[in-house]
Amino acid sequence: MVIEFEKILGDATRAIEEAKNFSDLESVENRLLGRKSGEFSALMKNLGELTPEERRTTGAKLNELKDKITTLLGDRRRALENLAWDKIAETEKIDLSQPPLPERSFGHFHPSTTVQRELEDLFTSMGFMVLDGPELESDYYNFTALNIPETHPARDMQDTFYIKGHSIGDADQWVMRTHTSPVQIRAMQKYGPPLRAVIPGKCFRNEATDVRHEHTFYQMEGIVIDRGINLSHLKGVLETVARKLYGEKTELRMRPKFYPFVEPGINYEVTCFLCEGKGCRLCKQTGWLEIGGAGMIHRNVLKEGGIDHKEYSGFAFGFGLTRLVMLRYGIDDIRLLESGNLKFLAQF
Ligand code: DAH
Repeated sequence: MVIEFEKILGDATRAIEEAKNFSDLESVENRLLGRKSGEFSALMKNLGELTPEERRTTGAKLNELKDKITTLLGDRRRALENLAWDKIAETEKIDLSQPPLPERSFGHFHPSTTVQRELEDLFTSMGFMVLDGPELESDYYNFTALNIPETHPARDMQDTFYIKGHSIGDADQWVMRTHTSPVQIRAMQKYGPPLRAVIPGKCFRNEATDVRHEHTFYQMEGIVIDRGINLSHLKGVLETVARKLYGEKTELRMRPKFYPFVEPGINYEVTCFLCEGKGCRLCKQTGWLEIGGAGMIHRNVLKEGGIDHKEYSGFAFGFGLTRLVMLRYGIDDIRLLESGNLKFLAQF
């Protein structure tokens, strides 16, 4: 078998050079190197007829030829690409007087969302579930089940929006929830003990609005129910959260306070992070910042949640998420947060 290497290479070079576009080039490549019917494959097949010695030298030469052809094909492909770009540049008009396009701007989380998510991460790392509940709530869950009967003066602490002519199920009275506490009962009823959950969410009150009062704000509620839970567990959790938020040196102070759904009830404060407890404008010279309410869950509340108070005990806490956001960022007017004012929001 005589193979005219020079001639094959010459023919191939010419064919490749003559390819005017990518599809031409592709058919040349197929004709030369195609696996099934390419010229090159045919030559390789014939190798079988040669002696081993001839096969080695001819095989090596054939491979060399194949490499050369492959290189030629690659060169031609790049040349065609350059031609294509030249064509685009020729036809495309560039208007040098055009003003720059506006920079693409991305949105970001609302400061309340940022703080809420940080707290969710912290609590989930301590084994808490994150739950939510309805914002339009029955009078029963919002008040009665939380040990605030209809005639109880504690109802006056949370003046709310009653919704008229709204009847779902058998509840006769519906309110925009005034706190996240009703989800305590819902969680107990749904999951039973033991239970560890936080509930962030929107709350509403019929407030005369000013820099410190808003009809819509966010709270975060927490509950832990198990055998043998006591106040020191509550203190441990609140301290951990306070130190995470405001630094390792932060102290926690708990003082008795009445909330109908806990017994005993407390309110808790942390050392002011701005003056570190020395007294300043932020803490009104007291050195302490009030954060929220808490306590051991009242047995009537456990009962409403279907939990046996003789076997289980639990603590609950609730704080104003909105208030934490204001403290964190030094926001002095609560109304800004729900205002949708982009000038305000763009700062965070
Ligand atoms: N729900 C109360 C409020 O909105 C806050 C609160 C106090 C929640 C004590 C609790 C608690 O879970 O134990 O003012």
